[in-house]
Amino acid sequence: MADTLDYPALLERIAADVAALVGSGTPAEYIPALASVDPHRFGMAVAGLDGTVHGVGDWEVPFSTQSVTKVFALALALAEGGDSLWERVGREPSGNPFNSLVQLEYENGIPRNPFINAGALVVTDRLQSLTGDASSELLGFLREESRNPELSFDAEVAASEQEHGDRNAAVAHFMASYGNIDNPVPALLEHYFWQCSIEMSCADLARAGLFLARHGLRSDGSRLLTRSEAKQINAVMLTCGTYDAAGEFAYRVGLPGKSGVGGGIIAVVPGQCTLAVWSPGLDAQGNSVAGVAALDRFTTLTGLSVF
Ligand code: DON
Repeated sequence: MADTLDYPALLERIAADVAALVGSGTPAEYIPALASVDPHRFGMAVAGLDGTVHGVGDWEVPFSTQSVTKVFALALALAEGGDSLWERVGREPSGNPFNSLVQLEYENGIPRNPFINAGALVVTDRLQSLTGDASSELLGFLREESRNPELSFDAEVAASEQEHGDRNAAVAHFMASYGNIDNPVPALLEHYFWQCSIEMSCADLARAGLFLARHGLRSDGSRLLTRSEAKQINAVMLTCGTYDAAGEFAYRVGLPGKSGVGGGIIAVVPGQCTLAVWSPGLDAQGNSVAGVAALDRFTTLTGLSVF
């Protein structure tokens, strides 16, 4: 990696510092496959710009990435379809829970940002129109960027999401009534649930997110996003990536980040490295308690932050 930090020692120290928090919070309970995960898991990985990865704890154990995939879907939709996406989804924090419906009616079916569920559904809808198979396109991209051809969907999680998907279905139909969904809602929901079910480890996620630290360059050196687009995605992660806790996350961690209810979080130090953490216990906003604490320790100990 570019600098002289002793990453293995640093990660061991962070793991020790947050050990008391691992197991606190509550794993997601809305589907059995997430509720049954051992809450005492903790892993963290750091990937340098050259793809070198260091990790600690359960950093190579696959988990349900859930909403962390929203950032990758956004990157693909922008790369393949360009800026017109922003006519259908905003870039402001919502100040509401990730699955909230309340703003959609008085904002005419335009979601506040691409990381709440409503916004992510619009992004997946766009990707579906652009590619004809949004979830497979996303999985293929993640396999290439993580350099892990074994990555896959978790069929049990996807089926459970579908079974308990009334709220996402309501959000999608509501936006369709405003003309902000182009594909049939059942097909869109299927792709969205497959997308949420993708399993990855911290090592996979840290590597896959490196294009955001490399100002838009993929692992093979080709350009996915312009430098400006990479900056824009990082900015939206900072302001909206951890939902109604984004202000607190910016205050504590000071990095662009994106969380998921599986307990994973990805964070980016532009020009330096990408971080991924996983611990299933969530706070009231749906962010991993030990995960946020570990990222907080990382930026506090190293001074690596966008601020
Ligand atoms: O849409 C849902 O409810 C889930 N499949 C994903 C939610 C999620 O991870 C949001 N983030 N914290």
